[in-house]
Amino acid sequence: MNIFGRMKTAAALLFGVSAFAIQAVASEPTIVPEQPPFPAQGKINYVPRDSILEFKAQSEYREPEWVTEKFVKTGKLPPLAERLPKKPMVFKTGNMPDGIGVYGDTMRHVIGGRPEGWNYSAGQTQGWGGIDIAMFECLTRTAPLFQVDAQDVEPLPNLAQSWEWSEDGHTLTMKLIEGAKWSDGDPFDADDVMFYWDDNVVDPNVSPLNGATPETFGEGTTLKAIDKYTIKWTFKDAFPRQHLYAMAYGTFCPGPSHILKTKHPKYAGTTYDEYKNGFPPEYLNMPVMGAWVPIEYRSDDVIVLRRNPYYWKVDEEGNQLPYLNELHYKLSTWADRDVQAIAGSGDISNLEQPENFVESLKRAAQETAPARLAFGARLIGYNLRMNFSANGWGEPDERAQAVRELNRNVDFRKAVTMAIDRKKLGESLVKGPFTAIYPGGISSGTSFYDRASTVYYPFDLEGAKALLEKVGLKDTDGNGAVNFPAGTAGGSDVQIVLLVNSDYSTDRNLAEGLVGQMEQLGLKVVLNTIDGAKRDATQYAGRFDWLVRRNEQEQTSVVQNTTQLAPTGPRTSWHHRAGTDSTVDLMPFEQELVDVVNKFISSNDNDERADLMKQYQKVSTTNLDTIGLTEYPGALIINKRFSNIPEGAPIFMFNWAEDTIIRERVFVAADKQGDYELFPEQLPGKPGEGGPIN
Ligand code: GLA
Repeated sequence: MNIFGRMKTAAALLFGVSAFAIQAVASEPTIVPEQPPFPAQGKINYVPRDSILEFKAQSEYREPEWVTEKFVKTGKLPPLAERLPKKPMVFKTGNMPDGIGVYGDTMRHVIGGRPEGWNYSAGQTQGWGGIDIAMFECLTRTAPLFQVDAQDVEPLPNLAQSWEWSEDGHTLTMKLIEGAKWSDGDPFDADDVMFYWDDNVVDPNVSPLNGATPETFGEGTTLKAIDKYTIKWTFKDAFPRQHLYAMAYGTFCPGPSHILKTKHPKYAGTTYDEYKNGFPPEYLNMPVMGAWVPIEYRSDDVIVLRRNPYYWKVDEEGNQLPYLNELHYKLSTWADRDVQAIAGSGDISNLEQPENFVESLKRAAQETAPARLAFGARLIGYNLRMNFSANGWGEPDERAQAVRELNRNVDFRKAVTMAIDRKKLGESLVKGPFTAIYPGGISSGTSFYDRASTVYYPFDLEGAKALLEKVGLKDTDGNGAVNFPAGTAGGSDVQIVLLVNSDYSTDRNLAEGLVGQMEQLGLKVVLNTIDGAKRDATQYAGRFDWLVRRNEQEQTSVVQNTTQLAPTGPRTSWHHRAGTDSTVDLMPFEQELVDVVNKFISSNDNDERADLMKQYQKVSTTNLDTIGLTEYPGALIINKRFSNIPEGAPIFMFNWAEDTIIRERVFVAADKQGDYELFPEQLPGKPGEGGPIN
């Protein structure tokens, strides 16, 4: 053996010894490694909160000329001033990147989802991609807050035009916009708000789309109508300003009660099923408070929305919004959304699937590229979530119950997290400086993130295997997969069912990567890959062992959907909800999380809130409440012909970009307008009756 050979042997020996030594200590957590820098493109122009909009009467109002000519002059529509509220919402010119706009053109969206129907209040998806955001307006609005000075951040008024706290902070009185109308001309008032609350949120037989429950607004909270335009909230805590965020998209966006009541069991003697499914995609002209109304639907092809002639927002010159006459939603795939936006046959995409990054960047860099592409911070993240319910959520059989018990064992969770090679997982999606190691908890892109409080269990397969043994899992039949102890599930192989959304290649790839890495550990994971809508239903019903899920606003902004950060109520958490006895069987660390989150919600002290989120991050990452997989930035792709797109708009923070860019004030300059309108000079017709009227 030459000298090199000897050195190698010595090294191997040494390595072997140190590997052994490492094994004993490697399970020690550290703080998460620093992320590779990824500078966001587009400088955000921070502004005071009150510089964006106000409510004010104008001396004169305007609308597209064809609306006046074809609809008002022929008596089909009342004059504009009669269709607008007393004091419309006015977007201030100073906050519009390109100023007052002109009418015309279309924004062509492509989506991977499919509409179940229009009954958002009863939990039906419209197919995502911001179509619901275009249709439904909420009491408050948060997406544009990405540009508001940090010390000034509070939800913007919307359907609730102003609010006032009582002296003791337990009641909040909101004034609704006065005299605004649904897109069919029916008045919007407190009846709509109360119908949403009493007969949808509070009614246990109904679950609105984004999962609003009474606890979303704090335990013990009540809501009452005072008069036609005044509502009053009563809270257990004093000044829980945080709940103003829950009144934004997507948990307080009321539907048209005059239409929905015609199918609701309480008013129509129908069943809850008939209510939920009473407004299928074929039901056109569903009344909305949003800027565009769905007037055409062709299955697996397209949804077309036209401007709402009763829309209640204007610019400072009194031009009724929106500027864009039409929206298209092509029913395709999410990956196709990127391809079409880059090619110019679609207009907008949230580039969020890393598998498409390199190709999209290459094309967008060409001077002739029809779209611009700008990356933001690392705000897209994925977690593995384990079902923590041991008291019957989803009615597990013996095997599933045994998996739940494992999920609740911290050594088991440590074994799983230590067996994940996150670098490899990230690089399997895209090479380069995009993905970063993400141990779980809140996102590194939020202002509440604190690296020092983020605990990370480094990749250590041997250490992970030792932990599995400690948990009592051994491969007793020599087939490579560990078995349950003899008395559990007949000592069979541990088999774990992982629920995955089939609509996104990223979800599928991460899940498949995980299956391979778990196989190395000796855990047999099988995939239950189903489309987004079915995935959601399966998840809400608790029928999963494990789940791979893209992060939501509670991780990216923390202040939005905050109650979902822990099982603060029976149905707030994604992975731990109430069992058959209506209680959540919290583990001690979860109780800590619940307490921290509740304190955060009721605190108005910024330093205390920052501190509480550090505690949250520490408890959640130490105990592996969720198991982070990867984190990366997303990019907004938008066709160059659009104006008023704010610079630095993140594709996801308080909400998705479709809300962030404030589409109702986006416009296309006259010399850049395309010929894309499919229903030019037409407006929505009667609810449920055919397409547009002309
Ligand atoms: C889907 C898409 C996101 C965004 C949202 C809007 O989830 O993946 O990019 O468009 O819909 O709701």
